[in-house]
Amino acid sequence: MFSKTLIILLIVNFVSDSYGQKNKKFFRKDYTYIDATETFYKINSLPSTWADAKRICALEGAIFWHPDNELEAKAVIEFWKKTKPNIPWLWTAFSDILVEGRFETVEGKPSSEVFTNWQHGTPDNYQGNEDCTHMSTVPDMNDYRCDSKALFICKKTLQSLEWNNNCDMPNLDYTYSPTTGKCYKLHTTPLNWTEANDRCQLEQSTLAVIRNSLEADYLVKLIQSTPKPRIKGKYQRGVYHLGFHNRFNEGWQTITGKPLESEDEDWFDNYKPDGEDECGSMFFNGRLINTDCDMKSLFICQHGADSLLEPIDIRLSSQPYVGGGVE
Ligand SMILES: *[C@@H]1O[C@H](CO)[C@@H](O)[C@H](O)[C@H]1NC(C)=O
Repeated sequence: MFSKTLIILLIVNFVSDSYGQKNKKFFRKDYTYIDATETFYKINSLPSTWADAKRICALEGAIFWHPDNELEAKAVIEFWKKTKPNIPWLWTAFSDILVEGRFETVEGKPSSEVFTNWQHGTPDNYQGNEDCTHMSTVPDMNDYRCDSKALFICKKTLQSLEWNNNCDMPNLDYTYSPTTGKCYKLHTTPLNWTEANDRCQLEQSTLAVIRNSLEADYLVKLIQSTPKPRIKGKYQRGVYHLGFHNRFNEGWQTITGKPLESEDEDWFDNYKPDGEDECGSMFFNGRLINTDCDMKSLFICQHGADSLLEPIDIRLSSQPYVGGGVE
């Protein structure tokens, strides 16, 4: 009886000790905690359309920012002036995209529930084409074209923070592998290699790199245990993008620029990329293959960059890829 309770306690502790994490007040290293609002913020430095801003915040596990009240507007603008003093305007997550004239945040909060301070004469929906909102450090707001590009802020409340203790990261959908000591996520929406790499980075990860047979075997098991997604449209079945490439024709290298090296001569002999395809992937059976960087595939992200500094195994398949739903 005692041991059962103990085991349950241990499991609960191990899997989701978000309470402990909340005490640490840490979400991601690129987010800053502001005490006054008990929220983490990041000013995203990639000028983006309004829709991309919303998407990127969500992929980072956060929410596109619009101030809930004056206190939050002031606290965040103070942070903004300190960190990006030369940026006069930032997108905020307030738009009337859904219903013309009815502004709301991406969380569906209407004007009455959030901070608003429109500039004189706005919103004016200039030329019938201004459904999004940006804010100055005043702070005041103006409606603007959603397809123009600006910096933006993502936010994450301390209250909503969850923690994946095994992987020491907020993303609960990463799985810890005790055999490799790393965390992985198999993405089931196909992307091309560059997009896949960007997606992993938004999750503070990199495309996975296989370093030895244990890691290859684990990824094969991960693929086998993931339900096959139903996907419309063209993508490479049975192929999973990984973190190596020869895009600069400098030789095959990992995502961190380390040359591909293997201590195992047998595997090294299998290093036979053929044709022009310069991106690295894995066949569903664990063999490495080179693929067209433009082709969409499922892909695997790995959390824990330190592993990338160690040599990896080369297991490029010498068998040509036959395509089709072989898996
Ligand atoms: C991958 O997709 C992006 C976005 O759709 C596109 O811009 C890019 O040209 C594609 N190919 C490569 C090799 O990045």
